[in-house]
Amino acid sequence: QDNVRNKIIEAHELAVKFYHYILNNTRQGDEAKRYLIERGLTDKLIDQFMIGYAPGDWDVLTRFLMNREFDPKLLEKGGLISAKNEAEGYFDRFRNRIMFPIWDKNGKAIAFGGRIIGEGQPKYLNSPETMLFTKSKMLYNLNFARPAIKKAKQIVLFEGYMDVIKAWSADVQNGVATLGTALTEEHCMLLKRHGDEIIICYDGDSAGQAAAYKAIPMLERVGLKVLVALLPKGMDPDEYIKSHGTDAFRYEVIEQAVSITKFKLIYSRKNHILSREEDRNQYIVEAVKIVAELDSSTEREIHLKELAKEFDISLDALKQDCHEFRLQQQ
Ligand code: UTP
Ligand code: MN
Ligand code: MN
Ligand code: MN
Ligand code: MN
Repeated sequence: QDNVRNKIIEAHELAVKFYHYILNNTRQGDEAKRYLIERGLTDKLIDQFMIGYAPGDWDVLTRFLMNREFDPKLLEKGGLISAKNEAEGYFDRFRNRIMFPIWDKNGKAIAFGGRIIGEGQPKYLNSPETMLFTKSKMLYNLNFARPAIKKAKQIVLFEGYMDVIKAWSADVQNGVATLGTALTEEHCMLLKRHGDEIIICYDGDSAGQAAAYKAIPMLERVGLKVLVALLPKGMDPDEYIKSHGTDAFRYEVIEQAVSITKFKLIYSRKNHILSREEDRNQYIVEAVKIVAELDSSTEREIHLKELAKEFDISLDALKQDCHEFRLQQQ
């Protein structure tokens, strides 16, 4: 069993180099390379993350690895190739895709994420679940991020490959990503094992914001201190860096990450039209409920004072409601 695992890792290590070579050194890789550069990646980043290209042929990787005495059954088990349905033989799982190697926490290549060039479905094709790769437990980039996480005791949680890589170029090297799958309890426990504090930096679209909202109690449950980085509407971290630059990302997004109370207030606010009386009143009630979740009475008072001032309500009334919500929440 150990032998099978080692062989699958060995095959992945070779595949990483193979795809990377094709991207950098062959005509077939030109278009993919141009696409990556256009998206703001540099040669240095492409090398660091060993990004590659799987050409359109049906079986280049299959032949490359079989010529090196790899058993195709083992390669299939590892998720690199598939058996043909109708005929004898095998074909590559990834074709015509930009390849992002996925390493385990010790830096062993165990899977890939493959992106289509430009538009198309599915945008990313990932390796299937294998004996080495379990998506619900996988955090992309944990291998490279470990030293920075250890130093800062803090982790930045992203949605995708490109976010992690672009953030790295902004000197945010404690970033990891769950890959398409929603955050699981296993992810949370793994995060807690490595850090004390987490900054959620999901996409600024409604899906990303809803996912952040869902992730908060899960991360708090394992004992992590949670902050949320805010992005302009509809932008993801990778797009933000492309249009605002690395410094803005680091100093204005990551370093300005807000408390979960702030985040929830902003989120609730966005769901109400404050110029309408009915909506405004609803928002105020919701805001007080959010504040009521805070354990520190000082922090509660700070937020309630702001609300009192903004909406011209007496602090006493807000405090009274807040007190009642606290009794209900217990
Ligand atoms: P996004 O749709 O936000 O993609 O999915 P992205 O990371 O911004 O990708 P780019 O910038 O357009 O290249 C976030 C993550 O969800 C997973 C991938 O890991 C992706 O990075 N995903 C997304 C999939 O696994 N499959 C998909 O089809 C789409
Ligand atoms: Mn997204
Ligand atoms: Mn995105
Ligand atoms: Mn996108
Ligand atoms: Mn993106």
